[in-house]
Amino acid sequence: MSEITDFVVTIDGPAGGGKSTVAKNLAKELNFNYLDTGAMYRTAALAAYRAGIPLEEYPQVAEFLKDRRILNRDGRTFLDGNDISDDIRSPLITSLTRHTADNPLVRRQMVLLQRQAAKGRNIVTEGRDQGTEVFPDAPCKFYLTASPEVRAIRRMKQLQENGESPSYPEILASIIKRDEGDMARQVGPLRKPDDAHIVDSSDLSAQEVVSLMASVVKEALKTKSSCEI
Ligand code: DC
Repeated sequence: MSEITDFVVTIDGPAGGGKSTVAKNLAKELNFNYLDTGAMYRTAALAAYRAGIPLEEYPQVAEFLKDRRILNRDGRTFLDGNDISDDIRSPLITSLTRHTADNPLVRRQMVLLQRQAAKGRNIVTEGRDQGTEVFPDAPCKFYLTASPEVRAIRRMKQLQENGESPSYPEILASIIKRDEGDMARQVGPLRKPDDAHIVDSSDLSAQEVVSLMASVVKEALKTKSSCEI
């Protein structure tokens, strides 16, 4: 039996919908590689910040990044060969990353890197433009969402576990505002691909979401076709 390669599964959706956990576990379940595209935008921000390049200077940042090597593989992220997986999760880098995510020149570079990462491999990739802009021909696309209220409660729990005392109305308002902003972006906006399976995780555990997606993908793999909607 010939091995399947270059099979791409995309998972897009709003922030806080659990895309990373689901994508990671789905990749494991399918024996695919997991591509964390958010980590790549974070790495771009970290690289420019460390080099003292103002992140608002879009062409300068893109020019600088041309000579950097950004790699996300097997759940780790590397900048010029150094593992910076933990560094890119700091609150500072998290807040600076919006500049690289908004930079159309950087987006073009990241899209090329993401397509390269898929060559000759099978991947589960996760972001908000994967099924629409980066891999429009992907055979299996999912749009993972959950109600703003459910996402707010999940976020509250995370913060409480970190010893914080968050306010539910504030968190809910910020989630709603973020969704609106992500959908209205000029570049790389959050959009549901027309041919995506919509998975609402409001009443499902992460494991239930993974099982559901895995069964859809396995069916497509069996027939070497695409995931039927
Ligand atoms: O998923 P995350 O929090 O690691 O993503 C970091 C930032 O990058 C976040 O602001 C969303 C943005 N992003 C993007 O613009 N396009 C992607 N494909 C993935 C993430």
